[in-house]
Amino acid sequence: MSDLDNLREHLLVAVEASAGLEALEAVRVDALGKQGRVTQLLKSLGKMTPEERQAEGPRIHGLREAVTDAIAARKAALEQAALSARLASERLDLTLPVDAAPAGSVHPVSQVMDELAEIFADLGFSVAMGPEIEDDWHNFTALNIPETHPARAMHDTFYVERSEASMAREGQSPPSDGGGSATDAARMVLRTHTSPVQIRAMMDGPPPIRLIAPGRVYRSDWDATHTPMFHQVEGLVIDRNIHLGHLKWTLETFLKAFFERDDIVLRLRPSYFPFTEPSAEVDVGWHLDKGRRRLGGQEGWMELLGSGMVHRRVIAACGLDPAEWQGFAFGVGVDRLAMLKYGMDDLRPFFEADGRWTRHYGFSALDLPTLSGGLSA
Ligand code: PHE
Repeated sequence: MSDLDNLREHLLVAVEASAGLEALEAVRVDALGKQGRVTQLLKSLGKMTPEERQAEGPRIHGLREAVTDAIAARKAALEQAALSARLASERLDLTLPVDAAPAGSVHPVSQVMDELAEIFADLGFSVAMGPEIEDDWHNFTALNIPETHPARAMHDTFYVERSEASMAREGQSPPSDGGGSATDAARMVLRTHTSPVQIRAMMDGPPPIRLIAPGRVYRSDWDATHTPMFHQVEGLVIDRNIHLGHLKWTLETFLKAFFERDDIVLRLRPSYFPFTEPSAEVDVGWHLDKGRRRLGGQEGWMELLGSGMVHRRVIAACGLDPAEWQGFAFGVGVDRLAMLKYGMDDLRPFFEADGRWTRHYGFSALDLPTLSGGLSA
């Protein structure tokens, strides 16, 4: 065997024997690197006579090619093996059995919020959030709620007292007795509705806006259908050329999907909210079924939610041009929606954390509401 054949044999064995990419690289440098053995042979061609070169050239080039090919093949095999090993080690066994009856259940309010997000996502709405401790300006002033509006009276709104230290930190002076706009801006409240999220959204980004804002709101109230904390969902659409027809269609589509009935009928009744003009109270029709009121049909009406076209003063307060942008807003009690859909008649136990109530009215964590699978599955 010639020296060249020996070298070839040696290098090909070394390539096959490399156990990893690093070892293989060492073999490559040894053969094909700047000082590599094959490289040296290639260089030696320059010093040969034409006859020698004619004889040796093809053999040396053949050697280089064979070694290069062998290294590439070995490299691919090593990489494939590494990938397979990684896939095997990261394998998840999805066949493990799940607990068919997990402890605990999903609260009806959470369930309804998930249902709302699902329905409105399908209509192109995103979900927005705002703070529950809100300033007076976002909760009232920017929403065109004048000083004298009853919603501002102490018996409805929870005011949050702020220490002088916290106000000094934020560079505000403590409120004086007389009120006034500087005081209003500094005064904090527990938000009385989700409408301040409208303001935050309009100030945040340029329209078009299409969002719902679910969350907790607070009012000083307590009876079978009122608790000091309850939940609302706000809807807001701002764009060019939005009109009341869009509002009615959206609400109708939403309520049909939510109550899973095609015979839901809505009635828009003229009403008043400071932040919408015109404003409409939305009633939903019911019918009697074995003496019980059920939604659908129009034997009678019940008031369900507040809505209207966003007032141009509100749009202007957010720095948008009301001649260019308009839209609608609505607000509805999430707890009330849950009571109507799932048949509870007292709101108070919603928030008493009694496990028996949640077990009875709650939902399985495994039944995610989807439009295709049935919302209340
Ligand atoms: N914020 C109003 C309420 O709490 C509801 C509402 C929202 C009305 C948006 C009109 C438009 O009663």
